[in-house]
Amino acid sequence: MFLIILMFILSYLLGSLMPGLWIGQVFYHKDIRDEGSGNIGTTNSFRVLGPVAGVVTLTLDLLKGTAAGLLPLLFHSHINPMLVGIAAIIGHTFSIWLKFKGGKAVATSAGVLLAYNPQFFMLVILIFILILILTSMVSLSAMISFSFAVITSLFYHDFTLTFVAAILTIFVFYRHRSNIKRIKNGTESTVPFGIYAMI
Ligand code: G3P
Repeated sequence: MFLIILMFILSYLLGSLMPGLWIGQVFYHKDIRDEGSGNIGTTNSFRVLGPVAGVVTLTLDLLKGTAAGLLPLLFHSHINPMLVGIAAIIGHTFSIWLKFKGGKAVATSAGVLLAYNPQFFMLVILIFILILILTSMVSLSAMISFSFAVITSLFYHDFTLTFVAAILTIFVFYRHRSNIKRIKNGTESTVPFGIYAMI
């Protein structure tokens, strides 16, 4: 029991790390919460700080989810990595360093999926990229690809995968409430390389 609690605490602390915010503060002397969408995630890091910071934020936000998902392996525990990973996603969204505020859980959730099932992760990422090319909207691509993850997980006959994917999808939609409003209003920001942004 002690080991399980320790893994959940470590996972939460990993998720609480805020690379996007800290890179902005240390290397660019900017607080990304004050600009763009105000989110501390990859998309706003790209938007406010540029591609280098964006890629580093994406990588670190993803890897902290993966590291959390690998904790059971490290501690030789049989607990499902997806369950331990949920604590990292909670940490990312309600960070101890940000007075329990945080990001929208996209990259860190993807990182947990990577630790659990790399093939499934690749499938979800492919859908994400496809939707991003079509819609040019990161938020919409994230919501659609997470919904796709729930449906696809049914073919894996893995109850925990479907259960966690469903929880994450609800969570991702909930955290994108402001984006959903902007999508409805036609004011959601787009990435330049998508087809929608080009027409
Ligand atoms: O990285 C989260 C993404 O889905 C939306 O981010 O900054 O456009 O609200 P943002």
